[in-house]
Amino acid sequence: MTDNYKIINEDCLIGLKEIKDDSVNLVVADPPFGINEATFGKHYKRKDNVIDGYVHAPENYEDWSYEWIKECKRIIKNTGTIYIISGWSKLGEILNAIKKNNLHTINHVIWRYNFGVFTQKKYVTSHYHILVLGKQKKGQTFNTYCRFGPQEKNEKKQSLLNIDLEDVWYINKEFAPDQIKNSNKLPEALLEKIILYASNQGDIVLDPFLGNFTTAKVALNLGRKAWGFELNKESFDYFMTIIAELEFGKGLETLKKVEIIKPKKQGKKITDEDKLGIFKDYEDLVTKKKNKKDVTEYLQKKYERGKFAIKNILDKQVILKNEMFKRYKKDKTTTNDTYLKDEGLLLAKLFETYLIISNTDDNKEIKKITNYPTHEIKNIRKNIL
Ligand SMILES: C[S@@+](CC[C@H](N)C(=O)[O-])C[C@H]1O[C@@H](n2cnc3c(N)ncnc32)[C@H](O)[C@@H]1O
Repeated sequence: MTDNYKIINEDCLIGLKEIKDDSVNLVVADPPFGINEATFGKHYKRKDNVIDGYVHAPENYEDWSYEWIKECKRIIKNTGTIYIISGWSKLGEILNAIKKNNLHTINHVIWRYNFGVFTQKKYVTSHYHILVLGKQKKGQTFNTYCRFGPQEKNEKKQSLLNIDLEDVWYINKEFAPDQIKNSNKLPEALLEKIILYASNQGDIVLDPFLGNFTTAKVALNLGRKAWGFELNKESFDYFMTIIAELEFGKGLETLKKVEIIKPKKQGKKITDEDKLGIFKDYEDLVTKKKNKKDVTEYLQKKYERGKFAIKNILDKQVILKNEMFKRYKKDKTTTNDTYLKDEGLLLAKLFETYLIISNTDDNKEIKKITNYPTHEIKNIRKNIL
């Protein structure tokens, strides 16, 4: 056995107890469901290539789950994550066991797969639950840009990164009728997604219920160390020979290199000149009936800022504009403030007000310049600064 994997043919409840506290970076657990999986071969008509000896969960599913989850919590680092895959039939028991262990739920992912088993008198089940858990509320390893850069879009101009970060995952099950397998193999694409997001090269990834060793295979391929257990001797012997032949980190060579193109001025203080430019360009383009999303993208490019920086400035502009219109209505009847009657001049006033309020703390001074009542100045300051 090399340093890269530590895989044992043992009950995980016994094996996990041998592992030191706070030593593992990621746990991926796909336990037996506690329903009679022995019948699965029959349903899927795939008896021929299925390895015998699948070990089922004990009767007391909740207590048993509590015990193995407790050990996973103990061995995981504070920055580590536990992913538990569960069907809906035992979800209640799993959630209770998680709660009793005081783990924090970071996400509840739905994995939607193809090839659901056809049912005539009820809906076809085609999803699993993936519970993403941490010892602490936040601070877990999460490699946001491991698969897509912020600039990558599909043909509908949607952000591939945003889609990938959603908590509903569309990943197909693998259809390989001629391959020898233990029941319920997870797709490698699913493990690749989990491992890339939640661990780094050289980290330890542990799977207490290895089955077909999918977690271990993908982890080793991506240069992570693979630890785990499988109680079924037949599975263990068969898949250990495959693991022994794998080249550590081989998959990294062909892994897509993600380019993260950050806006040039990201993180730098935004100048008054740019703020005013953004206000003005936005007004100009939107009054010319340009689509708001396209305008925002244009502003991102022109001012070399990220989406959120532009959004932030524009949100302030909306608040200010509303304040200005309220004021305008009042002024029309009560004062001779003629320049406010013109849209263009209203805008000029808007920019001017924004600049004055953001550059001085002295409300009296602002009142003198803008003729605004103090409560309105305070209100604008509260909303825009
Ligand atoms: C749902 S399968 C895991 C499938 C796996 N994720 C894959 O992609 O192939 C659960 C596996 O856990 C094994 N198992 C059941 N109880 C176990 C225990 N207490 N310790 C270790 N393995 C166990 C079963 O034999 C089975 O292979």
